[in-house]
Amino acid sequence: MGLNLAQKIIKEHLVSGEMKPGTEIAIRIDQTLTQDSTGTMAYLQFEAMGIPRVKTKKSVAYIDHNTLQTGFENADDHKYIQTVAAKHGIYFSKPGNGICHQVHLERFGVPGMTLLGSDSHTPTGGGIGMLAIGAGGLDVAVAMGGGPYYMMMPKVCRVVLKGALKPWVTAKDIILEVLRRLSVKGGVGKIIEYAGDGIKTLTVPERATITNMGAELGATTSIFPSDEVTREFLRAQGRENDWVELKPDEDAEYDEEIVINLDELEPLAAQPHSPDNVAKVKDIGKIKVDQVAIGSCTNSSYMDMMKVAAILKGKKVHPDVSLVIAPGSKQVLTMLAQNGALADMVAAGARILESACGPCIGMGQAPATDAVSLRTFNRNFEGRSGTKSAKVYLVSPETAAASAITGVLIDPRELGEAPKVSMPEKFVIDDSMVLPPAPEGAEVEVVRGPNIKPFPINQALADKVSGKALIKVGDNITTDHIMPSNAKLLPFRSNVPYLAEFCLTPCDPDFPKRAKENGGGFIIGGSNYGQGSSREHAALAPLQLGVKGVIAKSFARIHMANLINSGIIPMTFENEADYDEIDMDDELVIENAREQIKNGSSIVVKNVTKGKDIKVNVALSQRQVEIILAGGLLNYTRQQNQ
Ligand code: F3S
Repeated sequence: MGLNLAQKIIKEHLVSGEMKPGTEIAIRIDQTLTQDSTGTMAYLQFEAMGIPRVKTKKSVAYIDHNTLQTGFENADDHKYIQTVAAKHGIYFSKPGNGICHQVHLERFGVPGMTLLGSDSHTPTGGGIGMLAIGAGGLDVAVAMGGGPYYMMMPKVCRVVLKGALKPWVTAKDIILEVLRRLSVKGGVGKIIEYAGDGIKTLTVPERATITNMGAELGATTSIFPSDEVTREFLRAQGRENDWVELKPDEDAEYDEEIVINLDELEPLAAQPHSPDNVAKVKDIGKIKVDQVAIGSCTNSSYMDMMKVAAILKGKKVHPDVSLVIAPGSKQVLTMLAQNGALADMVAAGARILESACGPCIGMGQAPATDAVSLRTFNRNFEGRSGTKSAKVYLVSPETAAASAITGVLIDPRELGEAPKVSMPEKFVIDDSMVLPPAPEGAEVEVVRGPNIKPFPINQALADKVSGKALIKVGDNITTDHIMPSNAKLLPFRSNVPYLAEFCLTPCDPDFPKRAKENGGGFIIGGSNYGQGSSREHAALAPLQLGVKGVIAKSFARIHMANLINSGIIPMTFENEADYDEIDMDDELVIENAREQIKNGSSIVVKNVTKGKDIKVNVALSQRQVEIILAGGLLNYTRQQNQ
């Protein structure tokens, strides 16, 4: 039996395990990336491992999330990351050089390599044929130290793209269609592999838009083959030598398949408040728009920006609309400046933002109360924009630009002829904002400002784990609920004790206080608990508050891994109806916890208050069992290195 592309790359990197869906495998990691929001913690953890130099082929530290400097905190973090990177063999991409995934695609991504990034949109690299996976900072720290990355072997779902997109229909509409069909849970435990004659019609940045939002499907990653289109892109980036052809075997098998006829697609939008709440733009109707934001790692490529500039050229932004545009990288911004497209945007009335995550991470540009915001981003969870009552629609850059002019959500086809933009033969290459590491052995002082605080480290699992049900939440709790990420909190990414004061406060403002007063306890969750970002802080903040376990109907993959890495036990109800058997403040006990967890997946949690035994599953691999017993991955890694 032949192998599909995902299996081929996994096989090439396999360190242990069998490539059977659902069994644990370990793969060698070629490259890592971090962004500043998760990076400080990843580097603190890397330092705690005591390994002098990274062992990957390339590791890059990006500063793109917290680029606003309203106090010393972000600047402290940047300085720390810059110096720790220089010391340990990591490339450092300065603030302003661009959004990690965009820059990585342009300057570092290599087809066929594995990339582990402490950002959930790391799968963007699948657009260039990488096996690119988002993980917690600690996993990335371990990979930098040469350790493999452990995961459950995913199923591989083939998405066959047939035909070609009609004018005004875009790569964003393709991924929104996939989301519409599969939902935000549809990719869990899967790799989405794109195939079919339609892929030839898509440029690398368009492919990257699609793989980027595979994260919203909950997929492990998404990947495109590496073909002549990939080669052209790399050639234009002056990196043709990095190209290799990659394709599935002729007789490759897949666990699932869906087919999308590109010529049947129409402009789509994800309506508030979920990326899978997708409808045709023309069916939503011409709602009044207050803000349009174009950019983010989903849609900030040169091609995206050129199309936007072409739509705006000679027009004016509607008086009631605030249009903000953040080109994805210094390369993109430079090229727009050089060819006049930037002037067209400015003349139309656009506000140009720094090449960074910006409004996508709530760093500025919170919409007005009850405002409608059209965004080319990848997430529209309630409150992520910084304004709880705002209604965020996710759309293509074309729909966004057309609506910015008209002041209402509009199907861009109403504008008439679509702009024609072609890929440049050569991108402008200037890597002066990427600082290479200091030579091995060179003296580098790691600078630690007062914002760099020690992070919580768990203790080996006790025999008796007990505590109250500190909070009970519903389905689809996101990492934004667990650890809010807004402009006020972002500067404190390396200060977990402070951040913990805001843990789960969108669900219950008293949670941190109650957790501390009770000396920790348990969180009770619904399905898909922890969906959203790879934010490790969503596990570290509960750990800081003494949370010992989370009992949920189901977990999102990365969050569950982060809980395990922190030594917090992730448990799922064997019988979902038992969710109703635990109320807040109930006293819970796991007797013989170490023995129970060692002996198998089904364990008993006693609800002392209700006098009831509740069976829960702890679906852990042997290695994860040892991590939980050790009190987290850091303790486990230290033990391994002793
Ligand atoms: Fe940044 Fe938003 Fe992407 S925060 S990495 S632009 S999802």
